This record gives sequence, structure tokens and C-alpha cells, in this order.
Amino acid sequence: MIALKFTVNQQDIEITVPDSMRLLDILREELNLTGTKEGCGIGECGACTVIMDGAAVNSCLILAEQCQGSRVETVENLEKDKILSQLQEAFLENGAVQCGFCTPGMLMSAKALLAQNPHPSLEEIKTALEGNLCRCTGYVPIIESVQKAAEKLGKDAK
Ligand code: FES
Ligand code: FES
Repeated sequence: MIALKFTVNQQDIEITVPDSMRLLDILREELNLTGTKEGCGIGECGACTVIMDGAAVNSCLILAEQCQGSRVETVENLEKDKILSQLQEAFLENGAVQCGFCTPGMLMSAKALLAQNPHPSLEEIKTALEGNLCRCTGYVPIIESVQKAAEKLGKDAK
């Protein structure tokens, strides 16, 4: 077992879990944050994407000890986070949410991008989302949503 201290969505977490537990399971099973989804479980689909210390990561590949002292953000933070909530609104307006299974992971990858690069090029958006698979949308509405959210956030900042 390992005693962990880290933050999730700005809240301090102290929890003791098995060493082999994945961040994905800590979030879903221990903290009841079920917005983060499990698809492949092997780092290939992006459904489990969260932000750890500012970078988008696959939470199915992060073991408990790697969480020690980290700052984790999940899709549940969208009520408090302007970039995430703007992205969600753009996804909904642009038909970028169909079955919705990929959406939390897409939002987190897009948030990590816009937090570091508020005015990304098309290529930069495609690169940021290339680890997130979507079976429904053909990606175009998702990419356009990220562009629109970036524009709106840019205007709001002026
Ligand atoms: S569930 Fe983690 S990448 Fe697919
Ligand atoms: S909306 Fe269904 S997988 Fe993306």
C-alpha cells in the first residue's frame, strides 16, 4: 500500500491505496470522479485523459506512486475552469458530442493545449488531439470546436 498526498481539482487528497492502483481507478473508484472514462486501458484511446502538472496524460498508464505531490485536473473541474467550460460549450454547439464517450478525454487534451498555447494553429490542435480516438464525429467538429473556444477565450481576454 502507498499513502498519497496530491491535489485533484484544487482539493487536497490524502489516501492510501495499493501500489499497483492506476490513477484512473483512484479517480473513479476511490474519489467517485467517474467523468474520466476507461476505453482501451493500454494508453491508446485517450478516453482516460486527465491533466497532471499541466500536461495531458493517460490516467490508465499512471501508477499510484507517480501521483505523489502532483496536481491533477479532471473533467469534473469544468464548472470552475473557464477554458474547460468554454470548450464544453463549443463542443455542444458544434455537434462535437455524439455518443460522448471520448468527450471528457478530448476536453482535457484541448484544455492542456489552450492553457499553454491560447492561439494554436490547426496543425497544433491536430497534434494535441492525436492520442484521443473518436468513433463518431470524424474529428472535424471537434477540431472546429477547439478553434472556436480559442477565439472566444481570446475575445473575452481583451
Ligand atoms: S483507457 Fe487510457 S488510453 Fe485508453
Ligand atoms: S463522440 Fe462517440 S467516440 Fe467520440
